[in-house]
Amino acid sequence: VDLQPYNTMTIAARAKYFCAATSLDDLREALKFVREHKLPILPLGGGSNIVLTGDFPGLALHLGILGLEFEPLDDGVRIRAAAGENWHQLVMHSVDQGYGGLENLALIPGNIGAAPIQNIGAYGVELKDSFEQLTAMDIATGELSTFSAEDCQFGYRDSVFKGRAKDRFLICEVVLKLSGNWQPRVAYPALQHYFSEHGQSQDQLTPTKVANAVIDIRNSKLPNPVEIPNTGSFFKNPVVDASLYRTLKAAHPELVAYEAGEQWKLAAGWLIDQAGWRGFSRGGVGVHDRQALVLVNPGHRCGSEVVNLAREIASDVQRKFGVTLEPEPRFYP
Ligand code: EPU
Repeated sequence: VDLQPYNTMTIAARAKYFCAATSLDDLREALKFVREHKLPILPLGGGSNIVLTGDFPGLALHLGILGLEFEPLDDGVRIRAAAGENWHQLVMHSVDQGYGGLENLALIPGNIGAAPIQNIGAYGVELKDSFEQLTAMDIATGELSTFSAEDCQFGYRDSVFKGRAKDRFLICEVVLKLSGNWQPRVAYPALQHYFSEHGQSQDQLTPTKVANAVIDIRNSKLPNPVEIPNTGSFFKNPVVDASLYRTLKAAHPELVAYEAGEQWKLAAGWLIDQAGWRGFSRGGVGVHDRQALVLVNPGHRCGSEVVNLAREIASDVQRKFGVTLEPEPRFYP
């Protein structure tokens, strides 16, 4: 099966086998097949965080289980969402009903099932802030188990599903809890700037207003994957020790960085931009002209061209700033 329609980078690659699962039974059956044939699995959600570096020798498994349930509570709402539901639609559905908490995460591409794996985040909010639990299927046994927030070990763009539990589970359902006592979280510089530019006072904010601001900001600098193929941020923002931060800040006073405990998180987009890569393009692969952290693939080139460009950028940033960039999307195979 051609996987080009299943990844937002629009890389053409083939999977030996393909299954579109819409129920837990479908998943169990797919896993039985995988065990019998000893195949690797490529779980597919929205396909917005993967880079296909070649043909996949196993089973590409599309997780299309649907179902969305809002359970009103005395102090908010509990949301049960199946893995195949679209993240942004869930966000808009919840703000439309007056529930706040997810609005900063509007317009993040992808499906619910993928959200916990990298603890999706934007504009000062992360999935973990409203996460209650999830249900995942053990790939080795087909059994379901529950993971609490603590079990998930969430970090910046990180969870147990990228560490100890990597490739061991398929996430089937995610349960979120939103508090009835909503407070806007708008300290992120881009949001502050937006509200002052638009003359919106911060004590009249609603979840919908914040969602709309986030949507406007994202649309102004992030390419819509439907129009320009991309996987969002291609690198994580590097977290460095205070000593390296101080050295860099002395040499580059305009360096953008955020305090992260004892360490500092640097804006990788700023570093890449300063290194001169923003707007770079080569044979259909390039760097977005309004956000240097985003690699784009308008020429629908193959994964190795994308990866080669990413390597060049990372080694250039290493040379110029002494900072190591790590890719954010997952590479397959
Ligand atoms: N900047 C530049 N030049 C650029 C890009 C950025 O100078 O080409 C500067 C900006 O002016 C700003 C700073 O770098 O001062 C940070 O930029 P921005 O606010 O756009 O956010 P980011 O740190 O580049 C992160 C997330 C995004 C998320 C935004 C908003 C990561 C890897 N990326 O980007 O997430 O939307 O913050 O919260 O953490 C994603 O994960 O796919 C993603 C898009």
